[in-house]
Amino acid sequence: MLKSKRVIGVLISGSGSNLQALIDECSAPLFPARIGVVISNRSHVFGLVRAEQAGLPNYWLDRQEFDSNEAYDTAICDKLREHGVELVVLAGYMRLVRRPILEAYPDAVINLHPSLLPSFPGAHAARDALDYGVKVTGITIHFADAEFDMGPVIIQEVVPVHQNDDEETLLERIHNAEHRHLPYAVKLWAMGRLRIEGRRVKILPKGDKVREDT
Ligand code: GRF
Repeated sequence: MLKSKRVIGVLISGSGSNLQALIDECSAPLFPARIGVVISNRSHVFGLVRAEQAGLPNYWLDRQEFDSNEAYDTAICDKLREHGVELVVLAGYMRLVRRPILEAYPDAVINLHPSLLPSFPGAHAARDALDYGVKVTGITIHFADAEFDMGPVIIQEVVPVHQNDDEETLLERIHNAEHRHLPYAVKLWAMGRLRIEGRRVKILPKGDKVREDT
């Protein structure tokens, strides 16, 4: 077991299959991060059950109980801090994160999106890709900023669209890619191997400084 794992907080809104991928990877002794807390903006989602089953602190915070989005995100931030979180992972979190979180976690909020951004932003990326008729779509893992599905791209992977796909079959292929890449992005961050330069994110070689020609 690594002596000092970095602590991540995972925000979810749904089934939490990406949370599960993180739970599984984080359980490996040499994985450089662990999950400190899971927070959902929706009640009774399966992601909270997964967190509970993994013995992780987990909370549902109800937006209705707060006067504003800022107040809501301040409450989330308080919970993240209470659990020593250093990196916030938006794993199927269907809300925009606001200033309180972004300011408390500069360059340390990662979002996952089921398309090759900037194509098909929004809540129905797979359906939109099918409707458009693209032959490939994919996944994007990126640093989050104050706009939906923006922010510097860390990892993208292409996912083919098959001609008999419906939303369910395409989403299944997309999820497989997400489950492989989200833990890897967290690992890169935890190892200090991500460097943001404007809109570009450089992945530093292991245990080395970035070479200018990489
Ligand atoms: C993922 O496809 C993610 O890209 C999108 O919401 C989905 C969440 O799935 N934002 P899950 O809750 O991790 O199963």
